[in-house]
Amino acid sequence: MNVMTGNISTDGSSAWGTRYPFHPYPTGWFMVGFSEDVAPKGVKPLRYFARDLVLFRTEEGKAVVADAHCPHLGAHLGYDSKVEGDTITCPFHAWRYNSAGKCVHVPFTKMIPPQARINVWPTVERSGIIFAWHDLDGREPSWQLPDYDESTRREGTGFHRLHDDFGGAHPQDIFENAVDFAHFPGVHSVGNTMAAGELQINGPILLSPIKMYAPDETKPPEEATPTSLAMAEVVGGGLARVASTSPMMPGLTNISWVGATPVDEKLTHYRVSFFTLVAPDCPLTGEQIDQIDQVMTPIQCREQYSDGKIWPHKAYVARPMLSAVDGPILKYREWYSQFHPRPSN
Ligand code: FES
Ligand SMILES: [Fe+2]
Repeated sequence: MNVMTGNISTDGSSAWGTRYPFHPYPTGWFMVGFSEDVAPKGVKPLRYFARDLVLFRTEEGKAVVADAHCPHLGAHLGYDSKVEGDTITCPFHAWRYNSAGKCVHVPFTKMIPPQARINVWPTVERSGIIFAWHDLDGREPSWQLPDYDESTRREGTGFHRLHDDFGGAHPQDIFENAVDFAHFPGVHSVGNTMAAGELQINGPILLSPIKMYAPDETKPPEEATPTSLAMAEVVGGGLARVASTSPMMPGLTNISWVGATPVDEKLTHYRVSFFTLVAPDCPLTGEQIDQIDQVMTPIQCREQYSDGKIWPHKAYVARPMLSAVDGPILKYREWYSQFHPRPSN
């Protein structure tokens, strides 16, 4: 049965061969690696957005993401190539490309074809994460990643991880969590969860303030004290950053960076990086902070699977049957639609 003709789609019968009635590859900044994935002079093959890519790090330490195949005769720059200075040398006939993608050396000739270049993707590295800009039509970034002050990060806290076992959920589906308050009690080990204020939309950024109560809370929300307050920020089509605080952890803010990057129509790479920021006036000792971290980190690790086991099997419901306790799902989807590819003019 072709279920795409209805409101609920589970199969690959959409125009894109997926369960979603929109393009599989949205626009925005996407996580393509962690900083540790490539040391200086290191090279790694990548595949995202159904394209073969290469990630390398120059001797000076700049991370570069580029299309993988050499325009000369097609060798893959992610295998057996060499990085020297600012350049990567193709393993086949040793053409050399600089970090801007320009071919700067062809062996045994001074005549370099003027058009010889590899396509370099706009790349930013922050918080131990490598982000690349994706636009289906290759347009330059229309906005920059906001600069978050994470200078008070306590080293050694948290964890980071790549999950390639959460199926092919579209990033829109994954970040819908930020406004799906009703999923928290069932899926995560928390109680009642609700909006802590209005949803805020600033162009490519959506801010969803959330308050959570203990699972055994018996008082009504007006009288109860939340166990945690979170600001879930969806940053374009492929990222979210969640900052949470709790009265039980004075002076600490837990940050979760989450990335959802399509490999192809069938698989999405889900990355998470979780760590703690410590306010200058935090009353806790370093030892107490580390003890809290030892409790929080395994819980956070586990919680990723709580969502990760839902996504591979869920359908996409275009017109969901919402109740009074659901968050602003449709408003979120309307906001997200700006990241679905539109043809160039
Ligand atoms: S294929 Fe890269 S130099 Fe020939
Ligand atoms: Fe969730």
